[in-house]
Amino acid sequence: MSLSQHSFAAVTDLFHQVSGIRLADTKRALVIGRLQKLAQDAGIDSLDRYVEHVVSGQDAAETRRVIDKLTTNETYFFREPQHFELLTELATQASRTEPFRVWSAASSSGEEAYSIAMVLASQIGARGWEVVGTDLSSAMVETARRALYPMDRIRETPLAMVKKHCLKGQGDYQGQVLVSRELRQNVRFQCANLTESLPDIGLFDVIFLRNVLIYFDAKSKPPIVKRVAANLKPGGLLFVGHAEPLAQFDTGLRTVRPAVYERA
Ligand SMILES: C[S@@+](CC[C@H](N)C(=O)[O-])C[C@H]1O[C@@H](n2cnc3c(N)ncnc32)[C@H](O)[C@@H]1O
Repeated sequence: MSLSQHSFAAVTDLFHQVSGIRLADTKRALVIGRLQKLAQDAGIDSLDRYVEHVVSGQDAAETRRVIDKLTTNETYFFREPQHFELLTELATQASRTEPFRVWSAASSSGEEAYSIAMVLASQIGARGWEVVGTDLSSAMVETARRALYPMDRIRETPLAMVKKHCLKGQGDYQGQVLVSRELRQNVRFQCANLTESLPDIGLFDVIFLRNVLIYFDAKSKPPIVKRVAANLKPGGLLFVGHAEPLAQFDTGLRTVRPAVYERA
């Protein structure tokens, strides 16, 4: 199926309005690839007509499907392990008078949030901590709640954690792992758009805002970082992806080490 320049502009404008992410012309093949299946499922055999239907704003469910499809959700357990090493230290030193709280902002399908939970469970125990995962995509939030993953996603997970927290699937679930119910009890997921005012989810000791800033232009990054960092407890730490340094932006945060910032 082909997509006219007019339709490409219309659908990427819509995506930008909702997510804050601008998809460049170089992403044209990716956009076509991702929309094709949706158009087929909707019974529309022209991508231009499909886009016209979506941008008309009359079908909120179809708009949601398009937004979900155009977001990039690549993730896996224990990605960028330096952050998990630091989290281990922080959790060890945590005061036990109030729960140690961590937010995975842009949690995608949940692997980051469950990796955090594995570290907290090993350092703090079954209780006394909480992880909140949020994402723009409702489909990703659903996947995260299901907590069922292809085996490949746990490739970087320490073996002891796999043994303790992952149940290997059998029969129809061969090749998949389910995160244990015990671990899931202290992890919750909900939708939140980082470009809008955020839900009231409280203050956190650590916030993971990783591999999402990379999709925003330079102007959009500081307000997102400030909005997210406002949810840090005093002295709390913000982790960003190692490919997303913030030093050149005015965020009001202090650099602690590469990809780690502190709320003063
Ligand atoms: C590449 S994944 C990152 C997952 C995880 N943080 C990691 O580092 O592995 C990026 C996620 O950002 C989410 N996202 C994109 N724009 C967003 C927005 N405006 N608000 C919230 N989440 C957003 C996408 O839905 C996607 O799941």
